[in-house]
Amino acid sequence: MELPAPLRLAVDRFLHDTPLAELQRAAATLSARYRAELRDGRLHLDDAPAVKAYLAARMPATYAAVRASMAMVAHARPSFSPATLLDLGAGPGTVLWAATDCWPGLGEATLVEASAAARVAGSELARGLASASVRWVAADVTRTDAALSPADLVTLSYVLDELDPSAIGPLVERLWALARDTLVVVEPGTPAGWTRILAVRAALIGLGAHVAAPCPHDRPCPLAAPDWCHFSRRVARSRLHRLTKEGDVPWEDEKFIFVAVSRRAAEPYAARVIAPPRQAKGMAALKLCGADGEAGIRTLTKREGDDYRIARRLDWGDSSSLELRPGPTERSRD
Ligand SMILES: C[S@@+](CC[C@H](N)C(=O)[O-])C[C@H]1O[C@@H](n2cnc3c(N)ncnc32)[C@H](O)[C@@H]1O
Repeated sequence: MELPAPLRLAVDRFLHDTPLAELQRAAATLSARYRAELRDGRLHLDDAPAVKAYLAARMPATYAAVRASMAMVAHARPSFSPATLLDLGAGPGTVLWAATDCWPGLGEATLVEASAAARVAGSELARGLASASVRWVAADVTRTDAALSPADLVTLSYVLDELDPSAIGPLVERLWALARDTLVVVEPGTPAGWTRILAVRAALIGLGAHVAAPCPHDRPCPLAAPDWCHFSRRVARSRLHRLTKEGDVPWEDEKFIFVAVSRRAAEPYAARVIAPPRQAKGMAALKLCGADGEAGIRTLTKREGDDYRIARRLDWGDSSSLELRPGPTERSRD
C-alpha cells in the first residue's frame, strides 16, 4: 500500500527543503520515544522536526493501517457512508485522507490535535484535498472543554499509547457519545496495543455498541496472552522514507490492531482470518475467529472441494463464510 498520489505529492512538497540529516535525527528520536511508549508530559510530535520525521517515516504506515481497518469496516457495513468525520489526535491528518479514500461521500471533517506543529503540517497537506471541508481544533482530547459536535464517524488512531491510562476510560465514553454511527480506534499491532484495544472493546460493548470489525462477535475475545490479535499491511517505502529510516528494504510491514463499533449490528459472517494462512500442497490451514466467539485453526484439504478452494483464496484479515467448526449445513458464500 502507498499514500494516495495527492498526499504523497503534498508530503514531498512539505519536506523538500528539509536537510536529510535533520529528518534522520528526528526520526531516530521519534522512533526511540514510540518504542519506549514514553509518557513524559511532552507530545511526541511537539515540534516541526518531529512532525516532518513523522511524515517521512511513519505516516505511510499509519495510513496503511487506518485504510485497511476502514476497508474491513466498509466490508462489514456496506451501507455505511459517513458524511461527517470527527478525528481525535489527528496528527498530520492521516485519518482524514484514509476516510475520504474509503468513503468519498465524506463532506465535513473536524480534526482535533494538541500539537501546533502537527496542525500546521496537516492543514498544509489538506489543502490538496478537494473533497471535504476540514476544520482543525486545538485541544487536549482528554479534557472536555472543547465543544465537539457528534459525527457519523469518530476515530482515534495511534493515540491511546500516548495517553495516561487513567484518561482512556472517560475518553472512550465521550467518543462513543459523539459517534452517531461508527467509532474506529486503531493502535500498533503489539501485545500492548492489543491489550489497550481489548479494554476499549469491552468498555464499548458495555455501553451497548456492536462490534463491526474485526471481530465477528460481541463476546469476550477468545485469545489469551502470549497470543494476541493483529493484522499487517505491507507499505511501499519511497526513496525519502528509506533514506530517513536509513533502511535498504523498499517496503516494511506495519502491524496494527483496531476495533470498530457501530450503533447498528453488522451483517453476520462466519469468521475472520486472524493470522497469515498456511498453505502446502493440497492443504490450507486458517486461524479463524468465529461468530460463536471461539478461535482456532481449521485445516482444509482438497477433499473439502469448494470450501478448500475458498480457503486457498483467503488472506489474513479477510472475513469468511467458512466456520471454525463446520456444521453439516455449512455452505460456501464467498
Ligand atoms: C502517533 S500520532 C497519530 C497521528 C494520526 N492519528 C495518525 O494515525 O497518523 C498521535 C497524535 O496524537 C496527538 N495527541 C497525543 N495526545 C493528545 C492529547 N491529549 N490531545 C490531543 N492530541 C493528542 C499527538 O500530538 C499526535 O499528533
